[in-house]
Order: sequence, then structure tokens, then C-alpha cells
Amino acid sequence: MTTHTTTKDAAPGTPTPGDTVLDARGVTMRFGGLTAVRDVDLTVNSGEIVGLIGPNGAGKTTFFNCLTGLYIPTEGEVRYKDRVLPPKSFKVTAAGIARTFQNIRLFGNMTVLENVLVGRHTRTKEGLWSALLRGPGFHKAEAKSRERAMELLEFIGLADKAEHLSRNLPYGEQRKLEIARALASEPGLLLLDEPTAGMNPQETRATEELIFAIRDMGIAILVIEHDMRFIMNLCDRVAVLVQGQKLIEGDAATVQNDERVIAAYLGEPLADDPGAEEVAEVEAAEAAAAEAAAADTADAETTAGTTGTTGTTGTTTDPAPGKDAAPGKENDR
Ligand SMILES: Nc1ncnc2c1ncn2[C@@H]1O[C@H](COP(=O)(O)OP(=O)(O)OP(=O)(O)O)[C@@H](O)[C@H]1O
Ligand SMILES: [Mg+2]
Repeated sequence: MTTHTTTKDAAPGTPTPGDTVLDARGVTMRFGGLTAVRDVDLTVNSGEIVGLIGPNGAGKTTFFNCLTGLYIPTEGEVRYKDRVLPPKSFKVTAAGIARTFQNIRLFGNMTVLENVLVGRHTRTKEGLWSALLRGPGFHKAEAKSRERAMELLEFIGLADKAEHLSRNLPYGEQRKLEIARALASEPGLLLLDEPTAGMNPQETRATEELIFAIRDMGIAILVIEHDMRFIMNLCDRVAVLVQGQKLIEGDAATVQNDERVIAAYLGEPLADDPGAEEVAEVEAAEAAAAEAAAADTADAETTAGTTGTTGTTGTTTDPAPGKDAAPGKENDR
């Protein structure tokens, strides 16, 4: 696997990898008879980008929900910087964990800047009365929040759209705005649930750089993605969930080459152009079929010419011999 980035190593000055930021132990989440997450242990250390992958329905988002207080795990414990997390999402955010959602959750009728300001509320001390009375403390806090929000918009490249309604942003920019809003709570750990879903390759590449830059700001990252190239380029460690259980955890090479992962999830080893091999096989089979059909036609014409029969059978209705060139192709699809 080629690594296209030069920024995988942490920038000087970032925390030394090693301190455990997130420590999830034995996390199990049951919904009635369904065990969506089963006995999962996962740690994220400072300075790290950790990937969480697995097939659809493997329990990745449910695990995130257990980490962020949206769900209270049926069993297990989640610690952030050595403290057991409170089972309420706003308290988890206040403790230092921020997240983005698989389905974008922005306030569509609010501006880009306002959406980021919403993300800051856990970091502002001004309460309801202060907001209603609009005293000097409120104005000072508000000015500071706006300044920080603008800095974050600058950082993700949306400062020039600060006054646009968020619903008018293209999809890729909405995903970036969600990241800015998450960063507004000044987290120590950022959880990203499919940050590049629906993005084109250029946007995906830019998101990769953005995540490295966030890591370089001293924020640990746990990211769910289906885009294997993106995950393998980005992550120091990757954990694989299958049917709610952690199948394996390791660096990109270990995970990619694990037979169980290939069988359970990847289907085939990563190649520069996954799918190209299959396309080539289908094209070869089609070419062989066409060639065989042409040969049959020629044979029939020759036979008709020499024997005087019509030769109307066996040329179009019989299966072309060339079809056998791709046995089981139907099953492959
Ligand atoms: N609130 C819920 N109530 C009942 N079942 C749920 C709930 N949330 C998730 N599930 C089930 O738990 C399982 C795991 O779902 P989850 O959304 O965590 O998977 P995922 O790995 O994030 O999948 P995807 O890659 O498609 O996003 C699924 O079978 C899902 O239907
Ligand atoms: Mg999910």
C-alpha cells in the first residue's frame, strides 16, 4: 500500500504517543435480543489516529454511541483520561470527547458561523440570565466565542462562507462544518463517523490532510470509515468489528493481510484499483463469447454453402462456447 502523505508522523510539540486518552473495556450493547456490540476493548492514545472498520451493521456507530453517552452500555466501562465517563452526552462533550455523525446533523437554517457557535456552548460559562440581560460579561464571552469560531472556520477553509446558511453548503463542506463544530468544544478526543461518506476523491484527500492537522493540534482521533485506502493511509492502528465483536486490531499492514479480515470484510486484498481485475475478467469472457459466436456463424455459413442446408440452428440459440470462459461469473456478482 502506498502512503501518499508525508504527514503521518506527528508534528514536533504534539503529545508523546503513549498516554491513554480513551479506554473502553468490555463494552457490550444489547437491544432486546440483539447484541450489537459484544465485549469490545479499545484504547486510543494521545497523538494517535485509530480506525474502526467493519461491514455494515457491525456495530461501529453503536460503539460510538456508547462512548459518547448517547447509549448506556449494557456492560463495560468507558474511561476518558482515567475518569469514568458520565452517561449523558453533554457531560461527555464537556469532559472532552466530541463527535461527528454518520448522518450530518447541522442546523440547516442557521449560518455556518452560528453552527460552530452552537458547538462552543459547553465551553462558555455564561448562563441563561447573562444571555438575557446581555451584560458586559456576556458580550465579552460572545466576542471570544466568535473569534474562536472564526479561527476554526479559517482552519477548515470555510471562513468566507461564515454567513451562508449551512443548508446551502455543498455536501462535502457540510461534513467539514460538522468537524469545525465538534472542534469548537475544544476536545481532547474527536470521534468521526464516516467523515468522507459521499465525498469525491479530492475532498477525501483534503479530509485526510485535515485529520492529520487536527491530530497535530494535539487531539486524538478515532475514525469510522468504509474507504479502506483512506483508513490505511491515515491510521496508526485499525480495529475491525464484525458482528459486534472485535476481530483484530493492529497496524494497517497487519489488518490488511489478516485472512479473517479479508474473508469477513475486504473480500479481496487492497489493490491500486479494486474491481479492475473483475472488469478485465468480464471483458475477456465477453470477447471470447463474441469470437466463438462469430466462428460458429462462419462454420454454419461454410456448412450451408457446402451441403445446401439452411444452417439456421446452432448459431444463435446454442450457448456460445466462449461463455464457459467465465464459469460461475453469475455467482460472483
Ligand atoms: N437503537 C437501536 N435499536 C435496535 N437496534 C439497533 C439500534 N441501533 C443499532 N441497532 C442495530 O445494531 C446493529 C449495529 O448497527 P450499527 O449502526 O452500529 O452498525 P454500523 O457498523 O455503524 O453499520 P454501518 O456501516 O452501516 O453504519 C444493527 O443490526 C442495527 O440494526
Ligand atoms: Mg454506522
